[in-house]
Amino acid sequence: MIIALNNKSNLNKEEFISYLNSLKQISTNSTLILCPTYINIPLVDGVLLGSQNVSRTDTGAFTGEVSAKQLKSYDVKYSIVGHSERREYQKETNEDIKEKIIKLQEEGITPILCIGESKVERDNGTYKEVIKEELSILNDIDNSNIIIAYEPIWSIGTGIIPTNEEIIEVFELIKSILPNNKVLYGGSANNDNIDTLKQIDLIDGYLLGGLSLKPDKLQEFLNKLN
Ligand code: 13P
Repeated sequence: MIIALNNKSNLNKEEFISYLNSLKQISTNSTLILCPTYINIPLVDGVLLGSQNVSRTDTGAFTGEVSAKQLKSYDVKYSIVGHSERREYQKETNEDIKEKIIKLQEEGITPILCIGESKVERDNGTYKEVIKEELSILNDIDNSNIIIAYEPIWSIGTGIIPTNEEIIEVFELIKSILPNNKVLYGGSANNDNIDTLKQIDLIDGYLLGGLSLKPDKLQEFLNKLN
C-alpha cells in the first residue's frame, strides 16, 4: 500500500522536528510518503519525500514559486498536484495542473494527481463527468507514472466518507480510464473507518490529512491495514 501523508499547512519547525522523530519510529510494510509544507522539506531525512505543490513555471523570476528542479535537488520523489484546496483557494485550473504534471515529469518526480467532486456535484449526479474531465488532462501526456488520489471534497476533513459502493463506482471509472495506475483514496480516512475501507480491493493506498499529523494514531491505522 502507498500511504501519502499530507501535512497541509501544519507543523512549525520545532513541532516538525519532534513529529519527524516519531514518524521514523513507525513500522509498516506500506510505502510512506511524507509531504510536508515546503519550508520543512530540508529538515527531512530517512523518509520518502513528497511535496504538496509545485510551480507550473521553471526556475527563474517567479517570486514565491518553487520549481520541480528545485524540488528534485532536495530529493523530492513525489508531488501532490491539483489538491481541492488549491483548486478552490488558489483557483488552480485543470490546465494549470497539467502544466505542473509536465514540469514534474521532466524532473522524474511522480505526480499524485488529486481529483474528486464537490457535494453539489455528488448530489446532482454530475460527479462522473467531473472526474472524467479532471482525468482528461492526461489524455495527451505520458500517464504511466502518475498516482491518482480520489478525494471527494465533501469528505475532506469532515469525518464523512462515501459508502464502499460509492467508492467502488468511482474507482472502477478511474481504472477503466487508467488501468495501470495506482489509485489512492483520501478524505477522512481514520482508525474508525479503515476496517470498512480496506474491504475495497481496488484501493491501492491512502492520502491522509488529519491522521498524518498524529504518528501514534497513524501506527494504529497501518497496523489495521495489514
Ligand atoms: P483528511 O484526511 O484530513 O480528511 O484530509 C484528506 C486530504 O485532503 C489529504 O490530501
